[in-house]
Amino acid sequence: MAFEDLKIRITTIVSQQEKSPDDKMGEICKVLRTSIDYYDWVGFYMANHDARTLHLGPYAGTPTDHTVIPFGKGICGQVAESNANFVVPDVKAQDNYIACSITVKSEIVVPLFKDGKNIGQIDIDSNTVDPFTKEDETFLEWVNEQVATLL
Ligand code: SME
Repeated sequence: MAFEDLKIRITTIVSQQEKSPDDKMGEICKVLRTSIDYYDWVGFYMANHDARTLHLGPYAGTPTDHTVIPFGKGICGQVAESNANFVVPDVKAQDNYIACSITVKSEIVVPLFKDGKNIGQIDIDSNTVDPFTKEDETFLEWVNEQVATLL
């Protein structure tokens, strides 16, 4: 499904009155995972700035053991500190990487800002090598802006 069509679906999910933010975020994960063939695991990690840890929030895909990630560790932990998108075309080339599944070949992590503060991130794993483009980054930044309105 094209990103423009997905934006319409996500806007609909975000505007649902009767659902909690977590339910909506979980639905967004499911829609992203099932609509884009190279999105194999989609989840949100939320930051605890006092403890300097990330905590797994809603996700779609195989359950992961990595429910708490310290700032600085792995791709996710690095984004918690850098406040910048991190695109990993080939996870084998990364030293500071936390493997969730042996099938994962690439990853993209985009920070989620609320009132200018990096409060979490969307994390996507792919079983394809080098699938992510600038379009994915722009789209996921937009997704995070919508999610920020729920938080
Ligand atoms: N690979 C991530 C850990 C989270 S899992 O992909 C769900 C990382 O290196 O931070």
